[in-house]
Amino acid sequence: MTKRMDLGGSFTLPGTSMTLNRMGYGAMQLAGPGVWGPPRDVDAAIAVLREAVAAGVNHIDTSDYYGPHVTNELIKEALHPYPDGLVIVTKLGARRGADGSWIPAFSCEELTAGVHDNLRSLGLERLDVVNLRVGGVTEPTEGPIEEPLTALAELKSQGLIRHIGLSNITPRQFEEAQKITEIVCIQNFYNVAHRTDDAFIDALAPQGVAYVPFFPLGGFTPLQSSVLDGLAASLQATPMQVALAWLLQRSPNILLIPGTSSLNHLRENLGAAALELPSATIAELNAIAKNAAPAARQAAH
Ligand SMILES: NC(=O)c1ccc[n+]([C@@H]2O[C@H](COP(=O)([O-])OP(=O)(O)OC[C@H]3O[C@@H](n4cnc5c(N)ncnc54)[C@H](OP(=O)(O)O)[C@@H]3O)[C@@H](O)[C@H]2O)c1
Repeated sequence: MTKRMDLGGSFTLPGTSMTLNRMGYGAMQLAGPGVWGPPRDVDAAIAVLREAVAAGVNHIDTSDYYGPHVTNELIKEALHPYPDGLVIVTKLGARRGADGSWIPAFSCEELTAGVHDNLRSLGLERLDVVNLRVGGVTEPTEGPIEEPLTALAELKSQGLIRHIGLSNITPRQFEEAQKITEIVCIQNFYNVAHRTDDAFIDALAPQGVAYVPFFPLGGFTPLQSSVLDGLAASLQATPMQVALAWLLQRSPNILLIPGTSSLNHLRENLGAAALELPSATIAELNAIAKNAAPAARQAAH
């Protein structure tokens, strides 16, 4: 039987009764290559989801456009009926073309269809949290988000969504959004080597808004750094554990959703919550961002 773990303490999404353990799980890696189609090993994917929840993970990040439908259907198969307290966060703002392409989907009709697709594939009557995902491939772009956000807020008022978050947005868009509806979380690209959002995270923390980095381990091009390797060896940890522990220590409003299709990597990642980094280690890690080369990018949603 999987032992429940300390997952870095917990954080309550603002204005909600949703208390999330800070170490969660991102389901995107469970779909096939290119986030398209089923995984090679369905049983292994289900085992990863069940072990995550058995270890205490109560925050799973997904989208119906992963696959499409694949990760949501795996989540349903592995975990439905869902245990009390499990929060499944999904996202809208794209749909998939027949060739696997990512097509923007922000009209009221597309957002409504997206909510119903997620409800169906997850087997839910109401979605816990829906992130409106805007912007470019991995970086936000300025521009109004009023129209799609208002449509999402309307779906919330119809009782189809409990809470709303935003993904791949700028601080200015967050300000605009707060005038339209309550925002409980932000999901942007951030990790020890990619720290564009440092000031944004610091501004969100006192407001109690969760910041959930996507690509916490570097995404499709996992982090590689001799500094990380050396520090990990000195701490008898792995480089990925150090990268995750750094995020947990970076700010109390950071919640993690590292993605993996591997049980061993899942165990390793969850174990990072128990790793306390000395302040000298944190100082060395802070220097990584200054020296980081831009990572190869792939489509990310
Ligand atoms: N809002 C957005 O635009 C957006 C964009 C991208 C992702 N997301 C969400 O964020 C979550 C996390 O992002 P991500 O999964 O793309 O990237 P990630 O968590 O940074 O990294 C995942 C990659 O790292 C590997 N990995 C995981 N644990 C490892 C370990 N302990 N040692 C070595 N390699 C390891 C995985 O391969 P293995 O499968 O082999 O472990 C995979 O290739 C996703 O699952 C998704 O839910 C959101």
